[in-house]
Amino acid sequence: MARKEKPWGGRFKGGTDREVEAFTASIAFDRRLYRHDIEGSIAHARMLARQGILTAREEKAVVAGLKGIRKDFDRGALTFADADEDVHMAVEKELIRRIGDAGAKLHTGRSRNDQVALDLRLYLREEIGHILEGIGGLKEALADLAGREIDTVLPGYTHLQRAQPILLSHYLLAYREMLDRDESRFRECRVRVNVMPLGAGALAGTGIPIDRRVTAELLGFPEMTRNSLDAVSDRDFAAEFLFDCALLMMHLSRFCEDLILWSTEEFRFIEISDAFTTGSSLMPQKKNPDVAELVRGKTGRIYGHLVALLTVLKGLPMTYNRDLQEDKEPVFDAVDTVRASLSIFTRMLGQVTFLRDRMEEAAAGGFSTATDVAEYLVKAGVPFREAHGIAGRIVAFCLEQGKTLEALTLEEYRAFHKDFREDIHEAVTVRRSVGARDIPGGTSGKAVRQRLREIGRRRARTKR
Ligand code: ARG
Repeated sequence: MARKEKPWGGRFKGGTDREVEAFTASIAFDRRLYRHDIEGSIAHARMLARQGILTAREEKAVVAGLKGIRKDFDRGALTFADADEDVHMAVEKELIRRIGDAGAKLHTGRSRNDQVALDLRLYLREEIGHILEGIGGLKEALADLAGREIDTVLPGYTHLQRAQPILLSHYLLAYREMLDRDESRFRECRVRVNVMPLGAGALAGTGIPIDRRVTAELLGFPEMTRNSLDAVSDRDFAAEFLFDCALLMMHLSRFCEDLILWSTEEFRFIEISDAFTTGSSLMPQKKNPDVAELVRGKTGRIYGHLVALLTVLKGLPMTYNRDLQEDKEPVFDAVDTVRASLSIFTRMLGQVTFLRDRMEEAAAGGFSTATDVAEYLVKAGVPFREAHGIAGRIVAFCLEQGKTLEALTLEEYRAFHKDFREDIHEAVTVRRSVGARDIPGGTSGKAVRQRLREIGRRRARTKR
């Protein structure tokens, strides 16, 4: 493009190298911001008119022109070229082409530096809303599923070794707790996103008598940035957003890891429906949990985006530097990945059949109620350390004899401690073990039902 066609071409004598044009262009990806760019420009134009910087006629022409451009982008009637450089210049150029001089006044009191910060904030504000909806949907699905599987037991693991029996509902609600925190992190992030940067200009503010408060109000921003240098160079809000995405994906990934393990022949705790699994091109018997694997896999790329942005930011001198253009692709891809992952994960969860008998059978194995033997003795007054030792020796004896804790006779128990009574056989059952952990936050059916009731009450309150 010849120098004269560039909005910034005044001081240039020669044209831009083609490869430089392609290398520096962000239009291929920041075109995604066109609706936000136009929304911001409309508010800016209205403010300029209120300040008497645009006439009422100019304002009308600019607003109508921008709306027309938005409509044409919406229906794919407008295309972009590398020479347009970025979405901000593409929109402005098209506006000037359509309405002439009034369009050339739009950029009064504004720089692309504060404009791009505004666009990204408007975009993220909206997308955080979508992500919050996704998290809310998954939280509801988990609470519903916990209600349906309220009494299903399975082995709880530490070190991936059977540890103690737990309720599946308790397990599901553990993930709901994580999502609760994810939700509040995104909400807090949105507060810091929701700040209006226009007026910062290129870096120092503007000498044009604009009214930032009007722009903020028109765009629904409760706050304005308080320092123009900070306003054009700050991407904390984007890094924070990526961190929140990384943590959310980590939670989904861990859940997926369990689902993948549970669907193996070795565990056989669940079956995922045909619609949410895929086959092998070679091995006819295969049914693979690819959806869960991909959610797990995509978590890595979100971590990558977070580190990419932090690295872009770390050595930047104040204030705006073109490096900041590298903020967008990580953010855009994170938004796409997180929204898609939340949606498909929630739907997949509805396609899981829990093989309750298998889970219960596994919960009973591996001496998972050995702790209950120790706690039995504690209740009879034996110091815990001693009780732990006795229970351990009982397990060793069972292993030698090829017996389970339930199959040991009372005499055999008594050989280890005189305080064992007939009810020890009941105490070492899976059901009793789970029921015994009846403490707020514990796995007993009573405690889990209590938590579900709280969740139900909160849901009813927020629905009102
Ligand atoms: N495309 C640029 C970005 O994404 C917009 C701001 C450009 N500003 C500048 N002075 N070159 O950051």
